[in-house]
Amino acid sequence: MCGIIGVVSGIDFKVSFLLERLKRLEYRGYDSYGYSDSRKTVKSLGAIKAEGLSLTRIGIAHTRWSTHGGVTRANAHPHESCNGEVIIAHNGIIENYWELKTILERQGHKFRSETDSEVVAHYFEEKIKQGKGVKKAISDFLKEVSGTFAILMMIKGEDKIYAIKRDSPLVLGICEGKKAGAKQIQKHILASDIYAFSDITDKAVFFENDEFAVVEAGAYEFYDAKGSLIKKKVQSFEWNQEEGKKKDYKHFMIKEIEEEPLVVSRMLLSLDHEQKDQFKKLVSLVKKSRKIIFAACGTSYHASLLGAFYLHTTGIEAQTLIASEFKHYANVDKDTLVIAISQSGETMDVIDALKYAQEKKATIVSLVNVPYSTIQRMSALSLNILAGQEVAVASTKAFVNQSVLLLRLAQEFGYKVNLSNLGEKIKGIFSQKDDIKRIAKQVSSSRDAYVLGRGQTYPVAREIALKVKEITYMHAEGMMGGELKHGTIALIDKGTPVISLIGCNDEDMVSNTKEVEARGAEIITITNNASQCRGSAKNTVFIDTDNDGKFGILACVAGQLLAYYVAEALGREIDKPRNLAKSVTVK
Ligand code: AGP
Repeated sequence: MCGIIGVVSGIDFKVSFLLERLKRLEYRGYDSYGYSDSRKTVKSLGAIKAEGLSLTRIGIAHTRWSTHGGVTRANAHPHESCNGEVIIAHNGIIENYWELKTILERQGHKFRSETDSEVVAHYFEEKIKQGKGVKKAISDFLKEVSGTFAILMMIKGEDKIYAIKRDSPLVLGICEGKKAGAKQIQKHILASDIYAFSDITDKAVFFENDEFAVVEAGAYEFYDAKGSLIKKKVQSFEWNQEEGKKKDYKHFMIKEIEEEPLVVSRMLLSLDHEQKDQFKKLVSLVKKSRKIIFAACGTSYHASLLGAFYLHTTGIEAQTLIASEFKHYANVDKDTLVIAISQSGETMDVIDALKYAQEKKATIVSLVNVPYSTIQRMSALSLNILAGQEVAVASTKAFVNQSVLLLRLAQEFGYKVNLSNLGEKIKGIFSQKDDIKRIAKQVSSSRDAYVLGRGQTYPVAREIALKVKEITYMHAEGMMGGELKHGTIALIDKGTPVISLIGCNDEDMVSNTKEVEARGAEIITITNNASQCRGSAKNTVFIDTDNDGKFGILACVAGQLLAYYVAEALGREIDKPRNLAKSVTVK
């Protein structure tokens, strides 16, 4: 995780500009941050304050999600070498840092932090001391260092940034600058992703693994690992800036939930128009493949579970695996279609699973939200879920669009579902906000919550529980209704909230609900069965839909709102929950 940014310009800019750019990457990690304009390095704990009037033409900055070493100012980036000549910001993990640190310490280097990253600064200081040019030193670094990294490095006295990438995302943004005389001055921005600069330029050069670049104000050069010059393509990208603004909403999360009707229609429409060819190719790849295996993490994994359910219902051999366990449980070969699902397109565990699938010669397809992301670029075919920028760490609208795309795919194979009124159905849930808020208030006084589902609502039960955990810090478990009596029912006590997802005619779920009710649980029902809403069923959210695949997705929207209002009642930091980051780029 972590976000890095570097700016080199032909004219002066305020340090606040660098920090504003960094703020746009804050969702990647927000334990601490820091910057350096090559003369001075400043570090702070907590949220980024995009201020600083001093002028500079160069600077690097970093927002941290801690891996090695706690949340302290010393561990915040940038890190400097002993003589302060080398200044670095790093995203990733230097796996052999201990070995390197031991050698560097023997050579007299003194370390100031507990991080793995600091070795990078000392490593380059040492190489430079030995008389190596920086480019040659970078080639050595790529040979001698193992792990994942996107590194930005400044050497005091040089007006350039050295940028090195392996497995952690890195991109160069090219900003056309003001004219000074006849000369067009360009500002170059190096960043973890395009969002850092998508409001000021739509031109970017993407780094591939083991490439590095030397970036100055008006020029840049890319090199391969051996230090040979390489040609790179400048790509134009589209990105809607409006979606990244909170407007009058209290939190990004509620804004993003409320965007669901709009983004779902946009995505479905695109499958019939702009993404029609890609969608057709996806259908044909599914037809051709012996089996489908999804690879995903977290919320995206829950969407993939729904996908496996839908496809399975149509008779297609489909399974899903949590990406970090992919290689231990997946049997992949050239006839397997591996479908990666990822909002960010940068999740390291998914990237690793795809590398494994590539080795086994499987075909790789991805469904991502962030275009030009690593996962998209690794795929033979990639569809965009078009949820728009998701800022809140807890994923909501991306889940809806991932699931609906998979449902649309199953429809091609005979799954019966009417998707045309989905947006309206989601709005129907929004109209029950007051009831959901009332229920949330009740739930907020509990320590634990359980969410039960079966079939299409099992993945949703897990997703609702994940939302509750992430943003309320309550203990929540999402599970199969049938599994409850095999142990977990021991935890049900008087007043324990149990959220039961009951589809029409799902008598088994009704029984499972009765079983916990009999043991004192406080039942909250999310159902499309009107009869469940009668009589004593005071805590019920009614989903006005058939039992087609929409029910699960709509039940999830109700669960997202419930989790949001519980977190609000508890006064939690909803958009940036503790210990989390939006994009998980470490293993
Ligand atoms: C979702 O609310 C979580 N923040 C998290 O589980 C997330 O879904 C997971 O890290 C996968 O991310 P991706 O979709 O960007 O790959």
